[in-house]
This record gives sequence, C-alpha cells and structure tokens, in this order.
Amino acid sequence: MKIEEVQSTTKTQRVAVHTHVKGLGLQPGTGLAQPIGAGLVGQEKAREAAGIVVELIKSKKMAGRALLLAGAPGTGKTALALGIAQELGPKVPFCPMVGSEVYSSEVKKTEILMENFRRAIGLRLKENKEVYEGEVTELTPEETENPLGGYGRTISHVVIGLKTTKGSKQLRLDPSIYEGLQKESVSVGDVIYIEANSGAIKRVGRSDAFATEFDLEAEEYVPLPKGDVHKKKEVVQDVTLHDLDVANAKPPGGQDILSVMGQLVKPKKTEITDKLRNEVNRVVNRYIDQGVAELVPGVLFVDEVHMLDIECFTYLNRALESSLSPIVVFATNRGICTIRGTSDVLSPHGVPVDLLDRMLIIRTMPYSMDEMEHILSIRAQAEGIEVEAEALAAMGEIGARSSLRYAVQMLTPARILAETFGREKVEAGDVREVDILFKDAKQSAQILARSEGWLK
Ligand SMILES: Nc1ncnc2c1ncn2[C@@H]1O[C@H](COP(=O)(O)OP(=O)(O)OP(=O)(O)O)[C@@H](O)[C@H]1O
Ligand SMILES: [Mg+2]
Repeated sequence: MKIEEVQSTTKTQRVAVHTHVKGLGLQPGTGLAQPIGAGLVGQEKAREAAGIVVELIKSKKMAGRALLLAGAPGTGKTALALGIAQELGPKVPFCPMVGSEVYSSEVKKTEILMENFRRAIGLRLKENKEVYEGEVTELTPEETENPLGGYGRTISHVVIGLKTTKGSKQLRLDPSIYEGLQKESVSVGDVIYIEANSGAIKRVGRSDAFATEFDLEAEEYVPLPKGDVHKKKEVVQDVTLHDLDVANAKPPGGQDILSVMGQLVKPKKTEITDKLRNEVNRVVNRYIDQGVAELVPGVLFVDEVHMLDIECFTYLNRALESSLSPIVVFATNRGICTIRGTSDVLSPHGVPVDLLDRMLIIRTMPYSMDEMEHILSIRAQAEGIEVEAEALAAMGEIGARSSLRYAVQMLTPARILAETFGREKVEAGDVREVDILFKDAKQSAQILARSEGWLK
C-alpha cells in the first residue's frame, strides 16, 4: 500500500482588519497585560483573562468547556479571539467560523457545526519509523522493454544514492517509488527521507552545500543529515480529525491517506458519513490508548453566536459533552434577545441559559479616546497609511461618538482623499471631509427616525 501524508484542510480566511494583532501582549512571568503589546491596546482585564484561558488550553485542562466574549460592537472581541489563536501557536488547531455559516440550503446545520468541531481537534502522531535519509547524490531510473510487448519502455527500478555525514548508500527501488520522487520533484542535491515500510518520500529541503546556487524560488536549505543512511527516526505528524475524515473519505485512487489510519479505515468512501467519523474516532481512541497518538484539543471560535438557532444550541450542548471535544470560544455583541428558532424565548446574548451556564464569560469594555487613537495609529501603520497626529485625534473623537469600527474604516477613504489633493499624509481636514461624506450607523438611524418611514 502506498502511504503519504495527510493534506491539511485548515481554513484560509481573510482577517485583513486584524492583521496587526500578533498575540495577547502579556508579560511573560506575571501574565499581566502590557498597556500596548502585540498590537493590542488597553482592554487589560479581558486580555489577562484570555491569557489564563490560553494557559488552561495549553495544559489541556479546558477541553469541553466554553468561553464567551461579550461586549459592545467594535470592542475587540474578534481581535481578542485571534490573539488567543496567535498565543497558542500553529501546532494547536484553531478553527474560526461565524454563526451564520451554518445556514445553507445544501448541508444540514449540525453537519456544518460537526465539521468545524472536528477541524478544531488535533492529533499528534509520533511514530518511530525506519527510514533511509540523506542527500541525493544520484538518481537514475532504469528502463526495460515493456514486458507486455508493445513499443513502450517501462521503468523497472530506480537507483538512488543517499549520502550522510557518516556514509553513503546506493538503493535500488521499486518503480512505484519513482512516482513519489517525481511528485516531490526531487533532484540531485536535495535532502530526502524514504519510509522503509511504505516507500513514502518526504523532501526535507535542499542541501546546504548548494546554498550558493542561483535560485529564483525560496528554498529551504538544510544541513547534511547525521548518522547512518538507514536508521530509525521519530516522525511527528499534526493532523486534525477533519483531515482524517477527508483523507479517508476520498474515493479510491485519491492519494492522501495517513499511514496508520489508512491501514485500518479502508479508503473507499466518497462522503463523510457519521459511520466514517465513528470509525475514525474508534481508531483514534485506540491509538491514544496505545500511546502512539496524543490528542491536542484546539479551539473552535464561533463569532456572532447569536446567529445560531435553537437546533444548533441543542447540538452544541451535546457535542461539548463528548470526549473528543475542543474548547469553544463564542463571541457576541447582543444583550437580551430572542433565541433564533424560537418564537418568544428571551435569553441573555440570545444563547439558551443551559449553555450559558457552562461558559466562562469575558467582558470587553468600550475604549477611551486615547486608546482609540492608539489603535487607529497601529492600524494606520499596518495599512501603510501616514496620518498626522491631529487627524488621529479627529478620528479618535469620531470613534468615541460612533464606534471604533467606523473610525478604523475611515482610514482608507481619508487616504484616498489626501491622495487626490496630492498629499502623502492624511490631515485632520480629510478626516472631517470623509465624516461629512459618509454616515455612521447612528447618524443614519437618526435620519431615518426624522423621515417618518420614507427615506427623504
Ligand atoms: N484592543 C485592541 N487593540 C488593537 N486593535 C483593536 C483592539 N480592539 C479592537 N481592535 C481593532 O478594531 C477593529 C474592531 O474590532 P473587532 O472587530 O475585534 O470588534 P468586535 O468586538 O468583534 O465587534 P463586533 O461585535 O461588531 O463583531 C478591528 O480592526 C480590531 O482589530
Ligand atoms: Mg466581531
């Protein structure tokens, strides 16, 4: 059987407005919030609380629990959640979604929730594999006449030379491995390893010795491997349960099957069914019991949780009870409102009380004018917009009147305005002009209130 690595199915997302957030900005020893750190300004209490949650997640004491970020619009709930993700690092899965994502005419709501749950649960597989590792010194496919007759020639085997600091070896390999070499586009001078059992090829990078060669593409240069060519090597793989579902749901002929899982779960399905998930769970649990795999509960972030309806909440309650459950972080800006999907059940944040009961709640507070100015200047820097101090102050004022979100959104129009006047820097006048040209939500509502039902 051919075995290769499971492809990651991590969601790519646009978080353009939060690119300046690089973490929570806490002091390393004390966990206290720096007034400005990692792109975050103020909101100290909430950041410190989030820091504690990060510790709990890292020490795996938080699985199956939930956190709610509650606060007015534009107070940094989404920014805070992304800060948590950054602090956790790339090895802990973080799956962001927005409540309204569950509504689709094709897929059931609970199905979408389930998929996101499984994207947020990681598995670290450590295997001691027998490998051949080294720098490729030779790569020659040997051809023969096609044994079935005809005119074609086929590759009968591949001769590959591997070199380490300790020695070198020449291997004669099966032609199926040649495909793997081609897929990884291995050439002489690359450092690779070949798994002895499966024949899977992994290209580690280009050997140091070639570091000076002219190359347009970014290359990773790695040192010549130490030790023997043929050895045992600990191979660590980080995957999520959803990766495994997808890999095993691929129709036959698909190539991505995780080594250990692939042997047990037959990859002959085309759709992720409950049955398949249960099968994956069973195998995963067994591997955890055997100590081969380690569970890495990640974070599922559900923004705008008030968009979920009662059916979703019922499902969430149950899913949080399961043994394979991530930490769920919710965010909302709603006060007391009706729960979607019910006609008249009022509840805080539009979330049923029994689910609220499980949550730790972090409040985010409105910003002072100073803090807004700071955030705006960080944002301006991130977007590469030059802004004069007075213009920042003007935007801070506008932010205090309307919302931070509105003020942040003014940056780009103000820059465009400045550019039309042939200036590089945004001045206070530009900001006022933009404020006259556009309306914020409050102003718009006032106009409507005055206009007796018609937009005059
Ligand atoms: N403390 C902060 N430090 C730096 N930037 C911040 C901070 N708080 C918010 N921001 C930035 O301000 C903008 C608005 O914040 P964000 O989108 O996080 O608000 P929110 O609470 O999620 O609002 P909503 O309830 O409308 O979803 C974003 O660009 C965000 O990155
Ligand atoms: Mg938000």
